[in-house]
Amino acid sequence: MANDLLKGKRGIIFGALNSQSIAWKVAERAHEEGATFVLTNAPIAMRMGEINNLAEATGSKIIPADATSVEDLDNLVTQSMEILGGKIDFVLHSIGMSPNVRKKKHYTENDYRFYSQTMDVSAMSLHKTLATLYKHDAMSEWGSVLALSYIAAQRIFPDYNDMADAKSLLESIARSFGYHYGIKNKVRVNTISQSPTVTTAGQGIKGFQEFINFSEQMSPLGNASALACADYCLSMFSDLTKYVTMQNLFHDGGFSNTGVTQPVIERFGDE
Ligand SMILES: NC(=O)c1ccc[n+]([C@@H]2O[C@H](COP(=O)([O-])OP(=O)(O)OC[C@H]3O[C@@H](n4cnc5c(N)ncnc54)[C@H](O)[C@@H]3O)[C@@H](O)[C@H]2O)c1
Repeated sequence: MANDLLKGKRGIIFGALNSQSIAWKVAERAHEEGATFVLTNAPIAMRMGEINNLAEATGSKIIPADATSVEDLDNLVTQSMEILGGKIDFVLHSIGMSPNVRKKKHYTENDYRFYSQTMDVSAMSLHKTLATLYKHDAMSEWGSVLALSYIAAQRIFPDYNDMADAKSLLESIARSFGYHYGIKNKVRVNTISQSPTVTTAGQGIKGFQEFINFSEQMSPLGNASALACADYCLSMFSDLTKYVTMQNLFHDGGFSNTGVTQPVIERFGDE
């Protein structure tokens, strides 16, 4: 169902790897709602080639950029303004990667070179993206920048490993940069804290399927899907949410405010 919610808006969407990616759903829905945008991902992720199908389906150009490289981001932002014919109205940062998770390094034995990479890719890249947009005066007034987070930023989920620390930093960057960008250009910066979702990044976490099931039973509305997340992102890119900034917004079916649910309690009945 399309309502022209983003009609005439220009954007940059990071992180569409395959059709499971949250960014992929955001791109499909943004296209349906009338937006034009540039797709970007790390050059290495382009090798899979799937993003070409999304570009074709949405009439978008692809500009490869490693989000940890300020040079790549400079090129991305300047080229995007040229391609789209003006300033940018919305940016989706949908990027996460932890070498410690990938190499199964326990949190108490993290490799610090990996740890720095986790922070750089999954959190500092938001600061670098915002700083590049700011430097080039690339965002329209009331523009909206969103990054995706997870509740492990506030509470311990042991297998989320050093990604939890990265998400805490990510949310803090959204708050801090949101202040400066709000003052300068009335640009909004927020994070959406999404339910566990079956994607390539999600599946890297140990015991992920069990965790999805647990989370489903601990959420009054159940887990939010990638498509539902995309819809929430669109509302945050639209003019209907102009005064929301510097927030971490839970999109999790109520999980974050739930202590326990009846289905979970019943599992302990016989003990
Ligand atoms: N899947 C979940 O359960 C879940 C829950 C909450 C939040 N999130 C967050 O949502 C976001 C998107 O993840 P997803 O679940 O759609 O998985 P995904 O694997 O589809 O997306 C992650 C993306 O990050 C990109 N990326 C990695 N390194 C990069 C770099 N150096 N430069 C540019 N891009 C890079 C990957 O190529 C990939 O496209 C991430 O921030 C993730 O932490 C996911």
